[in-house]
Parts: sequence; structure tokens; C-alpha cells
Amino acid sequence: MLWEAWQYLTTPASPIVRKMGYLYEAIAMAARLGRCRYSWQPHYQQCQQAIKHAMMQCKTKRKALIMGAGLLQDIPLAQLSSEFEQVLLVDMVFLKQAKQQAASYSNVQCIEFDVTESIENMFHGVLQVTEPQAWLSDDQIDLVVSLNLITQLPLLPVSWLMKQFHMDEQQADQIGQALISAHLAYLQKFNAPICLIADRLDREFDSHGQLIDEFDSWWGVTQPGLVQSWDWELMPFAESGRLRKRRVNQVGVSYFNVA
Ligand SMILES: C[S@@+](CC[C@H](N)C(=O)[O-])C[C@H]1O[C@@H](n2cnc3c(N)ncnc32)[C@H](O)[C@@H]1O
Repeated sequence: MLWEAWQYLTTPASPIVRKMGYLYEAIAMAARLGRCRYSWQPHYQQCQQAIKHAMMQCKTKRKALIMGAGLLQDIPLAQLSSEFEQVLLVDMVFLKQAKQQAASYSNVQCIEFDVTESIENMFHGVLQVTEPQAWLSDDQIDLVVSLNLITQLPLLPVSWLMKQFHMDEQQADQIGQALISAHLAYLQKFNAPICLIADRLDREFDSHGQLIDEFDSWWGVTQPGLVQSWDWELMPFAESGRLRKRRVNQVGVSYFNVA
């Protein structure tokens, strides 16, 4: 608790990042990683393998753009740094540990940026999803990775809009779907190999291993075809306390512009 509070107080972050909960969630995720490191390792290795596969498809290796970089655990950072001229790590917020890790490579940069380009609008209660444009005109981008990010895009804005602006559930569904669809369309506009790693199905099991809940993490948006998938034990029993349940996400990889 002390560590979390210290991080919250000392991490530089904009008012939007603080008020909408991005900083809180990043710290909670880092704390959960500390407790679940062992069960999350296979997921991180699979993510890194998928990114390495996409790297092999790049004819030139000038800039790699990694969106949703967060805690950097699922990124083969040393290899990206040694093969690419520049590595751009993008997220709403980076904690100190991630910034320090990135700073140990001279060609790796942490960029705090909203990849939906809509969050500021939503912070002010404007229910409008814009088409992201960032980096589309940069013809040196030779690899794009969206990393465990797409299904997370609606969560905090929708919760903010419901709490602060009394948005109803129908509007929430529309905004959630629009954010996911806009990110998918945005990725597909890049003229480079694209690696999309995302959860596809969230499942909860009771202590007898019985499936108790299952939901589509894509808010009903049609998911692109998978080339590979695995289970990520996001919440082992020990994490759920008195709830006594496990949460397992099916994570899948899609590639675009890859032979
Ligand atoms: C499930 S985490 C994955 C993080 C990282 N890949 C990892 O596992 O350590 C999702 C990440 O998406 C980031 N994120 C959510 N919405 C975002 C947005 N609109 N723009 C940029 N990053 C966003 C969060 O801050 C978080 O780091």
C-alpha cells in the first residue's frame, strides 16, 4: 500500500491521467504484476515471441511503434533496440521503473500520448470518437504493435462518462464499440507490418473449475482473424480473495501487412 501511495504521489501525470484513473490503474497493474509474476510469465513470453515474429517481417528497421507499452514486460525491448534505429513506446502513462528501463537504451523513447485522440473530449463530456492520425504520415515507421491495449481503450472513458456525465448503457456500448473500431481502422492504415495482440474472450471459473462467466472483450465488434492464441491467467485464485474465482483471458495475435 505504501509503495502504491508513493508511486501515486511522485509519478508525474497530467490531470486527465490522474482524474480518469490511468495512473491508478497503471500502479495497480504493477502491484498485481509483483504478486502474479509467476503466472503471468508465459503470457509475457508469448507476447514477446509474437512481436519477434513481426520484426522478422520488416524489410527495413527504422522506427518501431509500440502502443500500450505500459510496464514493458511484454516487449522484447533489448532486441527491438538493437535491430531498430528508434523504438517509440507509447502509453497514457509510464511509471518510473518503465522510464528507467527505457532510458538504459539510447534509441528508446517513452511517449505519453492518448492513442485514441478522443480522451480529452471525453474528459469534458463530449461523446465523440475521432479517427486517430498520429504517426500515419511518418513513412519511417516500419513496425506497429498494439499490445494488450485495444480492449482496454473503452474501460476508463466509459466509466468516467457514466459517473460524471450520466451516460446511459446504450451510449456506453456505442462509445466502447466506436473506440475499438477506430483503433482497428487506425492500425490498418499503417503501411508496415502490424502486430495486434489483444484479449479475445474473458472467462471466470469457480474453485471447482466450472465456468461461471464468459464475456466478449471486444464489446461485440467483429474481431480480426487469429493466427495464434493462448490463455493468460490474469487473476489466479489467490488474487480473488473471498470471491474464490479465477479469471482467464484468451489472448490472440493478428498480423496485418505480413506475408
Ligand atoms: C493491459 S495494459 C497492457 C500494458 C503492457 N502492455 C503490459 O502488459 O505491461 C493496457 C495499457 O494500455 C494503456 N492505455 C489505455 N488506454 C490508452 C490510451 N487511450 N492511449 C494510450 N495508452 C492507453 C494503459 O495505460 C495500459 O498501460
